[in-house]
Amino acid sequence: MTDARQGLTGLLDTEAIRKDFPILDRTVHDGKKIVYLDSAATSQKPRQVLDALNEYYEQHNANVHRGVYTIAEEATALYEGARDKVAAFINAPSRDEVIFTKNASESLNLVANMLGWADEPYRVDSDTEIVTTEMEHHSNIVPWQLLAQRTGAKLKWFGITDDGRLDLSDIDEIITEKTKVVSFTLVSNILGTVNPVEQIIRRAQQVGALVCIDASQAAPHMVLDVQALQADFVAFTGHKMVGPTGIGVLWGRQELLEDLPPFLGGGEMIETVSMHSSTYAPAPHKFEAGTPPIAQAVGLGAAVDYLSAIGMENIHRHEKAITEYAVKRLLDVPGLRIIGPATAEDRGAAISFTLGDIHPHDVGQVLDELGIAVRVGHHCARPVCLRYGIPATTRASFYLYSTPAEVDALVDGLEHVRNFFG
Ligand code: ALA
Repeated sequence: MTDARQGLTGLLDTEAIRKDFPILDRTVHDGKKIVYLDSAATSQKPRQVLDALNEYYEQHNANVHRGVYTIAEEATALYEGARDKVAAFINAPSRDEVIFTKNASESLNLVANMLGWADEPYRVDSDTEIVTTEMEHHSNIVPWQLLAQRTGAKLKWFGITDDGRLDLSDIDEIITEKTKVVSFTLVSNILGTVNPVEQIIRRAQQVGALVCIDASQAAPHMVLDVQALQADFVAFTGHKMVGPTGIGVLWGRQELLEDLPPFLGGGEMIETVSMHSSTYAPAPHKFEAGTPPIAQAVGLGAAVDYLSAIGMENIHRHEKAITEYAVKRLLDVPGLRIIGPATAEDRGAAISFTLGDIHPHDVGQVLDELGIAVRVGHHCARPVCLRYGIPATTRASFYLYSTPAEVDALVDGLEHVRNFFG
């Protein structure tokens, strides 16, 4: 144990929590216990979520909203019950504001397409502007580029400061009367930065622009209260918050969901269909064409139960302590440069870094031989790497099951990497 570990407070009982996650007992490379530091890419799943998935398929599997028989009604109740759980988890005013998608990318593409096909006053066209930021995941850049290309709208963005924060110095020039939508991440997946939501929303509201928040790296880690946020849309994904893959969420304000057009057409989303025209079901079903990800939604409901039982405040406090410890220890590694805020303040639990001139892929490979799993590359946020003139970073990210001992293992592993590459 290092001295820096003394005085760490707010940690969860990880010994008990880790027993819920079977994969954390795995070994790789001849018996090396896995040190999983890639939860920003995807979190591990507790037994409670795995059991809910199994039980759904073993006991209740049927299509939803269609059958009149017992297990179809059970499947519908479980699917719609998951919507209730998610609505409560994010403090949505109404369960009808929760749309299930397949991931956060689909949620963000859905918003871009709703606005692209909308009538006034929401319509995005060649006289209007879309605002995003240079620190977005590709999923919050490319849909807006596609929308701009299709409509002729101008795409603008906030840059990043040297220390990994949004540069809002020219906020009044970037968000203008022409801005229709401002879409930005609450927490950066590559830099770890927590962004100043209030300041951006205040300006967007001054000019009447809609606000869309990518909460993929926030929902798993902190209390997410969509009413307190005051955004118009909030997107996140299940698999980063101990849920299964294949399920995402778009929350949207009810009046917007009533006004905006659907993007995908098909079964489930209609009220009536004739060969000439169709009318649509009310939200959220208007936006859920086809058989939805039923088991995945049930799994997400179990994930929400699991996180809520531990408490999002407690999870946040735990991660803050681990992140503070990790930042402190990483800054002592010779040649290591944190890409993003080099402090534990206003940052999430994903820490990107470079190590001298050792390529991040080499760092990741040597760490893997020690059983340590980190992500390397541009993390689907290539503009950030371009901004800092680097090809890639190594990223360690922490979650409710991460321990100070795993931070120590990473730091020891990096020492090994440095020795390996001389
Ligand atoms: N968006 C995921 C990440 O940041 C995949 O790693």
